[in-house]
Amino acid sequence: MSQALLEAQSIAHRFDYTLFSDIDFTLAPYESKAIVGRSGSGKSTLLHIFSTFMSPNEGSVHLLGQDIYHLTDDKIEALRRYDIGIIFQFHYLFKGMSAMDNIDVASMLSGQELDKGILEKLQIQELMKQRIGDLSGGQQQRVSIARVLSKKPRIIFADEPTGNLDKETATLVMDVLLDYCKTTGAGLVLVTHDIDMAKRCDGVYTLEDKVLTPTFTG
Ligand SMILES: Nc1ncnc2c1ncn2[C@@H]1O[C@H](COP(=O)(O)OP(=O)(O)OP(=O)(O)O)[C@@H](O)[C@H]1O
Ligand SMILES: [Mg+2]
Repeated sequence: MSQALLEAQSIAHRFDYTLFSDIDFTLAPYESKAIVGRSGSGKSTLLHIFSTFMSPNEGSVHLLGQDIYHLTDDKIEALRRYDIGIIFQFHYLFKGMSAMDNIDVASMLSGQELDKGILEKLQIQELMKQRIGDLSGGQQQRVSIARVLSKKPRIIFADEPTGNLDKETATLVMDVLLDYCKTTGAGLVLVTHDIDMAKRCDGVYTLEDKVLTPTFTG
C-alpha cells in the first residue's frame, strides 16, 4: 500500500471535560471515510485536529508523512496551501467578490487551475460573474467546494458539505467529491449528519461515548 495520507494515533482532547480519547484513524490515497455522531460529540473538533488547526491534548497526527504538530510554521503553511482542502461547516468566501474571482484567488495561491468541468457538475457555471453576497446559501456552498477543488488538494476535509442542500443537490456535491478522489487519488474525510451520504464513502465511523467506532465498511 502506498503511504497513508493521514495517520492519527491515540488522539485525546478535552475542553471542560474529556471530549474523546484513544482515537486512531488512517486514510489512504483514493479512500473516503465518513464520521457521523450526535451534535456536540466532537466531530468538528476532531476534523480540526486532523487538519492542522488544533493541537490535541494527546496523540500524534501525520499528514503526508509529516508530524503536523511538530512542524515549522512554513511547512504548515505549505501543507495548507498546496495539499489540504478544507470545506468547513460555515464557508469562507470573499462576499464582495464574484464567484469566479473567489476561485481564481485560490488557484493563484496554489498555482493550480480549476478543471472547468467541475463548475458544470456542480451546476454553478452560470453564476460565476455574480457577487457572492447575491448567491443563495446552497449556491455559495457549491462555489466554496469548487474553490477548494481548484487547488487540487491531496486530502479533503469536509464538515457537513451538504448541510444546506436539498437531496438532489447534495447528491451532486457528493458525486463531485467522490469523483475527484477517484480520478486524482486524493482522500476524503467527511463529517455529516446524512447517513445516506456517509454510506457512499468506503467506511463510516461513529463518534459516540467519547470513542470513534467503525460502523460500516463498504
Ligand atoms: N474552542 C472550544 N472551547 C471550548 N469548548 C469547545 C470549543 N470547541 C468546541 N467546544 C465544545 O466541544 C463540544 C464538541 O463540539 P464540536 O463542534 O466538535 O461538535 P460536533 O460534533 O461537530 O457538533 P455538530 O454536529 O453540532 O456540528 C461542544 O460541546 C463544544 O461546545
Ligand atoms: Mg460540527
